[in-house]
Amino acid sequence: MSSIIPVDLLSYATNPGYLSTLATTNISNPTTISLLAYDPSFTSVIGANATARQLYSLDYEAFHEAGVYNHATNKLYVTSNWAGDLNNPINVTIIDLAPTADYSLSSTRYASLAEANGATSYFPPGTQTNSSFPPNILYCDEGDFTSPSALISVNPATNISTPILTSFLGRNFSSLNDVRQHPETGDLWFTDADYGFFQSFRPESTIPKQVYRFSPSTGAIAVVATDFSQPNGLEFSPDLKTLYVSDTGAQEFSQNLTRPATLYAFDIINNTRLTNRRTFAYADSGFPDGVHCDTEGNVWAGCGDGVHIWNPEGTLLGKIWTGVVANNFAFLPGKVMVFTNKQLWIVENVVARGREVCKDFGVC
Ligand SMILES: *[C@@H]1O[C@H](CO)[C@@H](O)[C@H](O)[C@H]1NC(C)=O
Ligand SMILES: *[C@@H]1O[C@H](CO)[C@@H](O)[C@H](O)[C@H]1NC(C)=O
Ligand SMILES: *[C@@H]1O[C@H](CO)[C@@H](O)[C@H](O)[C@H]1NC(C)=O
Ligand SMILES: *[C@@H]1O[C@H](CO)[C@@H](O)[C@H](O)[C@H]1NC(C)=O
Ligand SMILES: *[C@@H]1O[C@H](CO)[C@@H](O)[C@H](O)[C@H]1NC(C)=O
Ligand SMILES: *[C@@H]1O[C@H](CO)[C@@H](O)[C@H](O)[C@H]1NC(C)=O
Ligand SMILES: *[C@@H]1O[C@H](CO)[C@@H](O)[C@H](O)[C@H]1NC(C)=O
Ligand SMILES: *[C@@H]1O[C@H](CO)[C@@H](O)[C@H](O)[C@H]1NC(C)=O
Repeated sequence: MSSIIPVDLLSYATNPGYLSTLATTNISNPTTISLLAYDPSFTSVIGANATARQLYSLDYEAFHEAGVYNHATNKLYVTSNWAGDLNNPINVTIIDLAPTADYSLSSTRYASLAEANGATSYFPPGTQTNSSFPPNILYCDEGDFTSPSALISVNPATNISTPILTSFLGRNFSSLNDVRQHPETGDLWFTDADYGFFQSFRPESTIPKQVYRFSPSTGAIAVVATDFSQPNGLEFSPDLKTLYVSDTGAQEFSQNLTRPATLYAFDIINNTRLTNRRTFAYADSGFPDGVHCDTEGNVWAGCGDGVHIWNPEGTLLGKIWTGVVANNFAFLPGKVMVFTNKQLWIVENVVARGREVCKDFGVC
């Protein structure tokens, strides 16, 4: 258990080792999670009574990306990390959120997914009028040496899967990384990076690293942003006026922290185009990977030592500090689940509400 610890930025300004005076962890067996306030407003964002604890520490990397809730099954779906073995592909860790289930875990593999990474809850065209909750989960499948990288829709209640997009007008993607569905247009906005090649399960890329917009009802596709090292997480602001895209170029074959570990912001015009690219934030630890906004417009990203939280002006408000890489996390009603590969952590009594919690959980 831990509660909020204030960070004295003036002390930090002249003491590079300041953080270690506040928080320590056993990196080979991390057990510590701390809520660090870099700005006084962090307490009202996370909630004065928020507490954090570890739920699991496993012997394999079960908790890596996605973290998408499905209402019909009342379960959260998390993709595991690449284990360096084409014979042991990425699978899906299922966390049961039923009150009596005590976050029990199971694991599955969908034959239609080669190597899944990021994902989003997904209304296929026309279903928004028929179903209250997104029936499907749309995965970014990074592909492998035989399957192209693709967007694949899975209904977790039936396990029926449907390919939604398997190329850019015939050109192979590299390794689709993360995806969001625009809540008004139903369009899918997604990123494509080189990680399947860096991790030796994809051929060398044949297309630039870009952000795309795809209409699943018409098939129309467009590139909306380019000039990244490695575009990775992406997220809409709650007013749908801004798109945030993380660039994790600091990690390619190996890590080089002179390359980007940066969140960029763009203005969204007419729900279709991007303009006014600007630097939103830079992570002091690792790189911003999975990104989600809360309903107040604060931007949360999984980084090298936990989840970092910035306000819409790009001021770092605080961290959910784990001391190890948090690739992603998920907002639940009143809670945040943090994924650090082998560990699963939970923050409870959280005031902030995820942008998509109302849509996905029906808790508004
Ligand atoms: C750190 O974790 C390792 C592996 O579980 C354990 O052997 C060691 O005793 C721990 N060290 C401390 C200081 O807790
Ligand atoms: C924190 O808990 C106290 C005592 O139960 C309560 O009075 C207060 O309203 C809570 N604050 C928040 C932000 O939930
Ligand atoms: C898939 O899940 C099982 C646990 O059920 C695990 O042992 C295995 O290593 C997993 N594969 C990967 C790539 O994590
Ligand atoms: C929505 O419901 C209507 C009326 O029941 C049905 O005709 C239609 O096929 C449904 N659409 C989808 C996409 O399920
Ligand atoms: C696209 O990828 C598929 C599957 O990996 C492969 O069979 C095909 O040759 C690739 N196409 C091009 C144009 O490289
Ligand atoms: C879908 O897959 C999950 C996980 O393997 C399994 O528990 C469930 O029974 C399957 N559902 C159906 C309808 O096959
Ligand atoms: C890191 O990247 C920079 C810029 O690309 C390059 O100049 C530098 O040599 C790299 N450092 C290492 C250790 O590879
Ligand atoms: C806005 O986007 C729609 C398609 O979604 C298009 O028909 C319309 O021309 C666009 N308007 C402007 C001003 O770009």
